[in-house]
Amino acid sequence: MKHLLKMLDLTEEEIMDILNLADQLKYELKHGIPHTHLKGKSLGMIFQKASTRTRVSFETGMHQLGGYPLFLSSADLQIGRGEPVQDTARVLSRYLDGIMIRTFEQKEVEDLAEYGDIPIINGLTDFAHPCQVLADLMTIREFKGSFDGLKMCYIGDGNNMANSLIVGGLKVGMAVSAATPENYRPAQEVMDFASPYKNFFITNDPKEAAKDADVLITDVWASMGQEGEAEERRKAFKGYQINDEIMALAHKDAMVMHCLPAHREEEITSKVFEEHAKEIFEEAENRLHAQKAVMVKLMSN
Ligand code: CP
Ligand code: NVA
Repeated sequence: MKHLLKMLDLTEEEIMDILNLADQLKYELKHGIPHTHLKGKSLGMIFQKASTRTRVSFETGMHQLGGYPLFLSSADLQIGRGEPVQDTARVLSRYLDGIMIRTFEQKEVEDLAEYGDIPIINGLTDFAHPCQVLADLMTIREFKGSFDGLKMCYIGDGNNMANSLIVGGLKVGMAVSAATPENYRPAQEVMDFASPYKNFFITNDPKEAAKDADVLITDVWASMGQEGEAEERRKAFKGYQINDEIMALAHKDAMVMHCLPAHREEEITSKVFEEHAKEIFEEAENRLHAQKAVMVKLMSN
C-alpha cells in the first residue's frame, strides 16, 4: 500500500491491518505508551474545503507520532492561483514525507499520487472519504466485536460517504443495504463493484433498507460544494432520515453513526442523534487513531 486514495484500492487484508494497528495505537495512547513512529517526518495537509475533525485529528495525530504537520490552506498556496497539481506534487515531494489533501475532484488526488513520489492520503473528495470509513469500521468492530453476520445500512445521498461505506463494508464481509433517491445513487464505479455481491442491496425505500440492520449510517443531504442545491435537495431527500420509525425496523441493539457535521431534523432526528451520541462521538475520536495507523503504514521506514 503506497497511498490511501479510495476504499476501492484496498484489500481486505490491508483494511484489517490498519484497523488492528489503530486499535493498538488507541490502547497505547490511553495508557501513556509513547509511539513516536514518525519522528523527524513532515506531513503537508492541503485543504480546499472546510474541516474540523480531519484537520485537528491529522494535526494532533502527527504530533503524537513525533512528526511535524503543516497546515496548507489552498487559498495561500499557488495551487489556489492555478499552479498545476502535477507541479505542486513534484515540488512538495522534495520537502515532505507525506501529503493529506481535501479537495473536490478525485482526479486531483490521483494526480498528486501519480506525479509525486511520497504517500498521498485522501482527506475527502467529492467521490470518497476513506479516512472516515476506516474510522467507521474501527468503531463498528469496537462496539460489535467483529463484522461477522452484521448488516450495515446507509440512508441518504449517494455521496462520498456512501461510495466509501459500501465498498468498505462489503470488503470486510458485512451485508450492506443502501437507500437513496433514484437520482442520487452512488457513483457508477461503486455500483459496478457492489452489484455482484449477493449481500448488497440498494433501494429507494429507507424502510426496506433499515430492516434488521445492525448499523445505521447517514450523512448530510447537501455536501460541501453543493450549497447552491440545498433547497432542491431538501425536497428530494425528504423522508431519507434516521428516526424512531426507522430504528424500530432495525435490530434492537443497532448502532447509529454519522461522520459529522450533522443537520438535525434533516438526515437524522435530534432524538436519535442524542440517543446514539456514544457511538457517534467515539466514531469522531476514532478518526485520530485510524489516521495515525494509516500514516504509520504509509510513512514509517
Ligand atoms: N467528518 C469529517 O470529515 O469532518 P470534518 O469535515 O470536520 O473534517
Ligand atoms: N458528505 C459530506 C461529508 C463531510 C465530512 C461532505 O462532503 O460535505
